[in-house]
Amino acid sequence: MNVQGRVRQATEADVPAILDLLTHFERPREFLRPRYEEDPTYRPRQSFVWEEDGRMLAHVRVYEQTLRLPATTVTVAGIGNVVTHREHRRRGYNRRVLDAALADAAHRGFAYSLLWTNSPFVYERHGYGAAPEQVVTGVAAAPDGSLPANARPVVVRPFEITDLPAVARLYEQVHGQRPGTVVRDQPYWRANLAFRREEPGDFLLALDGDALVGYVRTRRDGTALEVTELTSASTAAARHLLTVAAAPVGGRVTGRLPESAIGLLDAAPHVEESWRLMGRPLRIDNLAAALRDSRPDTHPDLSVHPAGGRDVLLRTPTTAPTAPIGPGLLTALLLWGAADRLEPHLATRPDAPLLRSLFPRQDGVLWQADSF
Ligand SMILES: CC(C)(COP(=O)(O)OP(=O)(O)OC[C@H]1O[C@@H](n2cnc3c(N)ncnc32)[C@H](O)[C@@H]1OP(=O)(O)O)[C@@H](O)C(=O)NCCC(=O)NCCS
Repeated sequence: MNVQGRVRQATEADVPAILDLLTHFERPREFLRPRYEEDPTYRPRQSFVWEEDGRMLAHVRVYEQTLRLPATTVTVAGIGNVVTHREHRRRGYNRRVLDAALADAAHRGFAYSLLWTNSPFVYERHGYGAAPEQVVTGVAAAPDGSLPANARPVVVRPFEITDLPAVARLYEQVHGQRPGTVVRDQPYWRANLAFRREEPGDFLLALDGDALVGYVRTRRDGTALEVTELTSASTAAARHLLTVAAAPVGGRVTGRLPESAIGLLDAAPHVEESWRLMGRPLRIDNLAAALRDSRPDTHPDLSVHPAGGRDVLLRTPTTAPTAPIGPGLLTALLLWGAADRLEPHLATRPDAPLLRSLFPRQDGVLWQADSF
């Protein structure tokens, strides 16, 4: 096919056309507008577009994030706002813009890429694999409240923008060592608040006197309340927040929670896997450096190698190399370590003991509040 168009990075002047094109995502223009016009971290060069005869026909955006791993961080090129003009699909335009975005991110040193999708087939051919997020659904505490009798009264009220410094400090204090969480600086926080557009009731704080002791961010998900982030210095405050926030839906809460938070829900919460999260390494040299930094005592000489197709293998000087690891399993191991729930994916592998020692299980979470 004789293709006349070209891929290029966007410029400031392209933003209105990008917003028009994003309506082909079957969402009103206003839905994604804040991510382009109110996000101080957005640079038009993070948008890759397919242009043909002066018309913009396809777009992807790279969301630049830094995620925590044990004792270190890893740079992540998040892929989002992926769309092709509805009358110009299946012509390879998405493939071209995505290839260009990934090549640029790799060139700039991003170690890893993540995305969420309902269309995994679009991304598998670009080297991504799906990783099982754990979605927990249950009832928040007891209907009559949740603070132990000897606890000081905690006041729950909606977030206000003047609370941001205290909220950012608490996030750092609670999640500063938690794998999978995003490193959030002030511009990131501002961007995140702008594009999540939570209503006052969706972002609740728990205060003990003047001290912020917890907060919860949520969105309505049918008959339950979806927790998109739960940050609390104490279990009692977390329970109390969930109870107050979920009261309008009879206490029903759902969310991608870290293992340590599952006990906040009443006995026997329902746990299922969601396979919408996909990941892949981008720069395996930088990924290897991050893995070495994450466990300098146990594997200072770990290296990562291509193993054909989308797979990699890991080597240490003292062990046989691992078997090929697909991008989905690799993503899961990075975020959650060899958690019990990954055992079905590990147990049949000959290298399971080595993988368990390279990736001890960890209380990781990638909050939906950071999704793009
Ligand atoms: C998904 C979307 C971006 C694909 O764009 P596109 O320009 O049509 O994609 P391409 O032509 O580059 O196709 C890339 C590959 O994706 C796969 N693919 C794309 N659309 C597909 C479909 N409807 N059914 C099956 N496979 C499909 C194919 O493997 C295709 O490879 P091929 O060349 O072998 O056909 C486009 O359909 C779209 O904008 N959809 C609505 C928004 C959306 O769903 N975005 C993704 C959210 S994560």
